[in-house]
Amino acid sequence: MNLLKQKIRTEGIVLSDSVLKVDGFLNHQVDPVLMQEIGEEFASRFAGEGVTKIITLESSGIAPAVMAGLRMGVPVVFARKRKSLTLTDQLYSAGVYSYTKNETNEISVSTDYLSSDDVVLIIDDFLANGQAVLGMLSIVEKAGASLAGIGIVIEKGFQNGGAALKDRGVRVESLAVVDSLENGSVTFHNEEAS
Ligand code: G4P
Ligand code: NA
Ligand code: NA
Repeated sequence: MNLLKQKIRTEGIVLSDSVLKVDGFLNHQVDPVLMQEIGEEFASRFAGEGVTKIITLESSGIAPAVMAGLRMGVPVVFARKRKSLTLTDQLYSAGVYSYTKNETNEISVSTDYLSSDDVVLIIDDFLANGQAVLGMLSIVEKAGASLAGIGIVIEKGFQNGGAALKDRGVRVESLAVVDSLENGSVTFHNEEAS
């Protein structure tokens, strides 16, 4: 996705050797034109897979997931990180361990919005260590739903989430893979450092 890579190059801020800040178009302010292209790209990569539902995680996964859902004509469910005020729902839940915070938080989806009839596409904004996606995978398994695959906007190829998912035989489509953030610059997969 050239527009995405261009955005990362021009507006991304390398905070350290491992953290890329993209608040200008993905994690705080959202660029709708870019999100639309991202949605179309996910839709085309997963066309013909019989996807009936997209699952993401609040909050930054919602924008790309909704644009994909619009294009694919399927609903989008975002897993919640906090318990809803209306604590009446039956839930599928999973623990998500954060390496940076060294804590496990529960994410959940109501049983009303995911069932064994669904074919799920999981979408998230970042793939780092993969804990959030593994939590969503666990929720899909608990519902007895099928998995079409995983769509990621930005994968950090130097962290182990992508490998962990591929080891499980899951299809992962990442629109931009960052292989390095060393020396303050972004190197994409299959590209020389610039
Ligand atoms: P990790 O230990 O597995 O790396 O994950 P961690 O729990 O630390 O991740 C916390 C948040 O940081 C997640 O978003 C994740 O998507 C995001 N993240 C991980 N690496 C990067 C990075 O290099 N750049 C950016 N911009 N984000 C990164 P979240 O807490 O779910 O927040 P939200 O944005 O979805 O609300
Ligand atoms: Na996220
Ligand atoms: Na995030």
